[in-house]
Amino acid sequence: MAKCAFLGLGIMGFPMAGHLAAKGHEVCVYNRTPAKAEAWQKQHGGHTAPTPRQAAEGAEFVFMCVGNDDDIRGVAYGDDGAFAGLGDGCALIDHTTASADVARELEAHAKSVGKQFLDAPVSGGQAGAENGVLTVMVGGDAATFERAKPVMDAYSRAVTLMGSAGAGQLTKMVNQICIAGLLQGLSEAINFGMRAGLDMERVIEVISKGAAQSWQMENRAHTMVKGEFELGFPVVWMRKDLKICIEEADRNGALLPATALIDQFYHEVQHAGGDRWDTSSLIHNLMKG
Ligand SMILES: NC(=O)c1ccc[n+]([C@@H]2O[C@H](COP(=O)([O-])OP(=O)(O)OC[C@H]3O[C@@H](n4cnc5c(N)ncnc54)[C@H](OP(=O)(O)O)[C@@H]3O)[C@@H](O)[C@H]2O)c1
Repeated sequence: MAKCAFLGLGIMGFPMAGHLAAKGHEVCVYNRTPAKAEAWQKQHGGHTAPTPRQAAEGAEFVFMCVGNDDDIRGVAYGDDGAFAGLGDGCALIDHTTASADVARELEAHAKSVGKQFLDAPVSGGQAGAENGVLTVMVGGDAATFERAKPVMDAYSRAVTLMGSAGAGQLTKMVNQICIAGLLQGLSEAINFGMRAGLDMERVIEVISKGAAQSWQMENRAHTMVKGEFELGFPVVWMRKDLKICIEEADRNGALLPATALIDQFYHEVQHAGGDRWDTSSLIHNLMKG
């Protein structure tokens, strides 16, 4: 069993840290809004700390799951940041979805101060975090990965080293590009079928058994037909992720014409008040009018 810290008890971090405690690891949590850390401790035991530095002191592994690049820097650096408390050779493992650049920056910083860093974004959403079945895509050095993997197994069904620093984030970008295209296709198909007067419940049941089948179809199509968008991963996070993808593509020369367009469609959803709607709400743009 490992001595761990977990920084950031949001929709994802709260249950992830809970799985660590349930597996018997010793966990100290930090959250910017202390009430969430207190609620976590009430539910799971363990300890709370008032700063990332204090949470990291004495921990072999410090996990974090915050919002974006700037949030990561805010939690990792500075007198009260995680690096300041981390012991020599210990590892900071970041589950935030962020840029590959910030991952490489943190890894270089970690190495320069005798510590380790892994970028380890996750897929599987709120349900995946709550059920402990996330997919974790990791970038960094192999020795740190081998040490950390059994601990990350507490909340994951697959934890895979994809390459050097940043490779986890790049893999997550591929994931998000796939999802954006899939959801726009599904939105257009469902809207088309509804306007054609088909019974979409039956259509989905039938085509789910054929080549059009997808996780999004199985898990989102029925709520999309009803215009319900309350199943987790919100549009505001998706736009953050697509911005990261588009910026990375500008650098590596990849063309993302559909992804860039779908990003604008999400912008339209936001205009309609959909910041917190789930990502299948792309269909909302097509249903009106
Ligand atoms: N939700 C999903 O389905 C999902 C799925 C896959 C990946 N992700 C990614 O996972 C990350 C977290 O998502 P989430 O849904 O858990 O977000 P969330 O519910 O909004 O939680 C964000 C957490 O980060 C903390 N935080 C944010 N900025 C901070 C800062 N500058 N300093 C200190 N703490 C800060 C928040 O603290 P406070 O409580 O004080 O606000 C909160 O604990 C994001 O990068 C997201 O893209 C999310």
